[in-house]
Amino acid sequence: MELKSVIQKAYEEHYAIGAFNFYNLESGQALAEASNIAGKPIIMMVTETTIDYAGLDFICSIFDTLNKQSKKKLFLHLDHGKDIELIKECIFRGFDSVMFDGSSQPFEQNAIISSELRRIAHRKGVVFEAEIGRVGGQEDSVSSELFKTNPSEALRFYDLAKPDMLAVAIGNIHGRKTAAEHLDFSLLAKIQDTISAPIVLHGCSGRSAKEYSVAIAEGVVKINIDTELREAFTSGVKHSIRKETDPRKILGIAKEGIRKQALERIRIFSKTYH
Ligand code: G3H
Ligand code: ZN
Repeated sequence: MELKSVIQKAYEEHYAIGAFNFYNLESGQALAEASNIAGKPIIMMVTETTIDYAGLDFICSIFDTLNKQSKKKLFLHLDHGKDIELIKECIFRGFDSVMFDGSSQPFEQNAIISSELRRIAHRKGVVFEAEIGRVGGQEDSVSSELFKTNPSEALRFYDLAKPDMLAVAIGNIHGRKTAAEHLDFSLLAKIQDTISAPIVLHGCSGRSAKEYSVAIAEGVVKINIDTELREAFTSGVKHSIRKETDPRKILGIAKEGIRKQALERIRIFSKTYH
């Protein structure tokens, strides 16, 4: 099944697809293993920083190999794309979906660029994600102040840009979850009532099962997780490096941390909520 249909089905049947960042062979393998164990499709995301780090050739070959070996479909996604030429390159390289993050741009510019990129993406059958409002915090090189999504602005943006999925800001913040961070579910419900379309929630590390389920019930179909996977990976490295010298053992333990964490999230997100 293509990603567009997977998203539509998730939206209609009230579950979400886990969208997880990966950076190298080991983190990619860990995510693919989690998807296989759960028997569920996942979205594997790379940021522009990861593309700088690993290069598109390696990312695409790692992903293609994992996808061929997978029982369930894996989908490759560009996360927080800001560089328009790079977004186009990902579309032409066969990514399943791309995000244009125009959240720091004025409304009109965000809408115009999103609309143009959506047209290009759709010509290649690529799913397109845009953002309205601004998710706060730090995601790789993207750092910003939280600016909650206004429902009527979201509708105006949705009508102009017509993305397949819309990322919104309801108090979700990138990075490790803090006590001060609260998701505004009544705002999410208002946005969903207004746009009636698939929603993406960024900055979702460290949330409770209850929070994920409420978000899914309000039309969230893609849940983005990064920080908690990085923490699982690096804590595996920190612990194992004290007694191991074999990089395969050190990275094997780090990989296991990501696999466990992603598997737990996939199982929560794939439940159907009514
Ligand atoms: O785009 C990726 C995410 O929004 C991940 O956020 O690092 O808070 O889990 P997180
Ligand atoms: Zn994000």
